[in-house]
Amino acid sequence: MKRYAVFGHPVLHSLSPKIHRTFGQQSGIELDYVAIECAPGDFAAALSSFAKSGGQGANVTLPHKQRAAELCNLLSNRARRAGAVNTLIRHDNGWLGDNTDGVGLVRDLTGRQGLDLRGRRTLLLGAGGAARGVAPALLEAGVGDVFVVNRDSTKADALIDQLGEPGRMHARYFDDLGTLGEFDLILNATSATRHGTLPTLPMSLVGPRTAAVDLSYGEAAIPFLAWARAAHAHTTVDGLGMLVEQAAESFFLWHGVRPDTDPVYTELQARHA
Ligand code: ATR
Repeated sequence: MKRYAVFGHPVLHSLSPKIHRTFGQQSGIELDYVAIECAPGDFAAALSSFAKSGGQGANVTLPHKQRAAELCNLLSNRARRAGAVNTLIRHDNGWLGDNTDGVGLVRDLTGRQGLDLRGRRTLLLGAGGAARGVAPALLEAGVGDVFVVNRDSTKADALIDQLGEPGRMHARYFDDLGTLGEFDLILNATSATRHGTLPTLPMSLVGPRTAAVDLSYGEAAIPFLAWARAAHAHTTVDGLGMLVEQAAESFFLWHGVRPDTDPVYTELQARHA
């Protein structure tokens, strides 16, 4: 049986094993998919022993996405642009790293949520692994200017430098948020709410057509999306659809089959919304 895994810290509550097993059942593909918990210092060794035991592919989640990129001997263009890997594919001499987070987000927003992203003035909160994963795909989807706000401004600058579109991307400080006006698309890619805090966000960021998107789902998405609703955002979206769509893209890379994501999304939404 083909062996797959998701590596993270923490990872034991990850929905990825369930999603991939369901995709496998749908497509008649037998696979073993487990969650492997490992601290950052143990990730390289854990991945290597997974490969030795026949592992053919893996997903990588927090906090290993940037380290995973370093451990690959081949990278897809989108993983290179993001500087972060969420999907590993075994080949003869090592790992090929790809990143399906961005395409997963864009597919959820433009498909399931029916949003036209083109020309949207965009605010990206955060410049860590999650922000890096989605920024290239947002640019490709045709969003307008992207303002990146991060506590550590060097990370926002590095993200913008890496994407090579200085005319379209702008770094700003949290303290500047009140002066930036309204955005058509606001994405929370910080881990703040996973730690139970929400950065101070002025309601002036939200206008009548604003879509507010949290890349997290479940309880972690509640504070930001509650803020957006209080500010009368037009649309609020959590990261559950992105999770299912990025998984579908990984599944396609490993098995060459595109699973049907809607039933999986509907079932998870009933339990985790
Ligand atoms: P992830 O892969 O989820 O992005 P990460 O790479 O550790 O995880 O990045 C976490 C992001 O959340 C960073 O942008 C971080 O900001 P800093 O780079 O300045 O640390 C952001 N973040 C975490 N806690 C935050 C908080 N309380 N307020 C604002 N931003 C926060």
